Amino acid sequence: MNPVDLLNRSIMVAAVLLAGIATSVMAEDSCMECHKSETYRIENKKLYEYFQRYQGSVHGLLGVGCADCHGGDPQSTDLSAAHEGVMEKVSYRNIPDTCGSCHETQWESFRDSKHNQVLKNEGGAPNCVTCHGSMDVDVYFTSIVKNTCVLCHNEETGNGPDIPAQAEHILSQINVIKGYRGLVQKYSEDPKVMAKIENSYERVTHYWHGFDLHKVEVETEYLLRMLREEKVKALEKKRQHD
Ligand code: HEC
Ligand code: HEC
Ligand code: HEC
Ligand code: HEC
Ligand code: HEC
Repeated sequence: MNPVDLLNRSIMVAAVLLAGIATSVMAEDSCMECHKSETYRIENKKLYEYFQRYQGSVHGLLGVGCADCHGGDPQSTDLSAAHEGVMEKVSYRNIPDTCGSCHETQWESFRDSKHNQVLKNEGGAPNCVTCHGSMDVDVYFTSIVKNTCVLCHNEETGNGPDIPAQAEHILSQINVIKGYRGLVQKYSEDPKVMAKIENSYERVTHYWHGFDLHKVEVETEYLLRMLREEKVKALEKKRQHD
């Protein structure tokens, strides 16, 4: 992981941990205590699989609790009291709000998008978990387009049939960007250049989550050009280093 991500992550983790201390003084997290039980492996396979998926996710590893997304009462060991309202916050329409409570940047961009308007009115649009998964959040790339965009954007529906190809191209560019960015972050010593790269990356994230594909495309091209130049310098540094 690169230093900037690591720093961001540590800040987030610290915030999550601090929030956790307030509850852990009163009681263990009952959701976790119950749901991690091995007995479900035999008695309730689905429940066990959900926990396994969560445990391996970034959220599981960094201590984002079940109740952070589901609500409910994490201090109660009573089945019905603990589960009060646990499906409400994770219902399809409420998901962006729930995830957005921690991921403000993405939520702010998503909020003004056409997808969100459709989501609020008719429901036929992707939300955060369509692309990232829920219990097992991850950042998917090409599989996003193959598994989700084409469901709604195709010749038959006539709703933006060119979108999948365009999105796939952009996401492959973002993939390259992520690789170069890691390398440059590791070897570049120029804070001004790094700030420029990070600002541009933020704009990419912003335009992407607002589905302004034209703006993402322009921004990714700009960023790639900048990174390619820096990569050459970074590789030079690496050679001296090795
Ligand atoms: C006493 C053990 C226990 C505790 C405490 C507990 N759970 Fe569960 N949970 C279960 C079991 C068992 C099920 C399977 C459904 C059932 O039998 O009611 C379940 C089901 C669920 C479901 C699926 C509900 C549905 O309607 O499909 C969610 C979501 C869930 N739990 C979240 C939580 C959260 C969040 C907490 C803490 C706030 C929590 N659980 C605390 C044992 C527990
Ligand atoms: C990052 C947010 C997030 C966290 C953390 C999280 N969940 Fe979930 N969970 C969701 C969302 C969103 C859904 C509904 C969409 C889906 O099924 O994929 C869901 C679905 C579920 C379901 C299936 C409910 C059903 O009947 O379809 C269970 C069971 C569950 N969660 C339990 C838990 C438990 C137990 C924890 C903690 C160990 C937990 N979740 C942590 C977001 C989260
Ligand atoms: C209680 C706060 C909280 C909530 C609620 C939450 N997250 Fe997160 N999420 C985090 C933290 C902390 C990280 C790790 C630091 C980071 O990458 O930003 C993270 C990381 C991520 C990542 C990056 C994963 C990776 O592999 O790098 C994605 C994607 C993500 N969350 C999506 C979601 C989605 C989708 C939801 C709602 C279902 C959600 N989050 C709800 C706190 C939260
Ligand atoms: C569940 C259906 C659904 C899925 C899945 C879906 N979309 Fe959409 N999308 C829509 C709808 C509905 C609209 C609004 C169409 C309109 O009214 O112009 C839309 C609009 C758009 C627009 C135009 C936005 C604008 O402001 O004009 C873009 C770009 C877009 N989607 C990209 C994507 C991408 C990329 C994916 C996959 C990652 C995706 N969509 C997945 C339903 C979907
Ligand atoms: C149409 C698919 C799609 C939807 C819907 C979507 N995302 Fe993303 N998300 C992506 C892609 C692709 C990336 C990687 C590129 C980037 O960073 O912008 C990403 C990146 C992220 C990241 C940063 C992960 C990292 O460390 O690189 C977070 C956090 C995140 N999304 C959260 C959310 C939240 C919260 C929502 C709902 C409000 C959401 N996303 C909706 C596709 C989507």
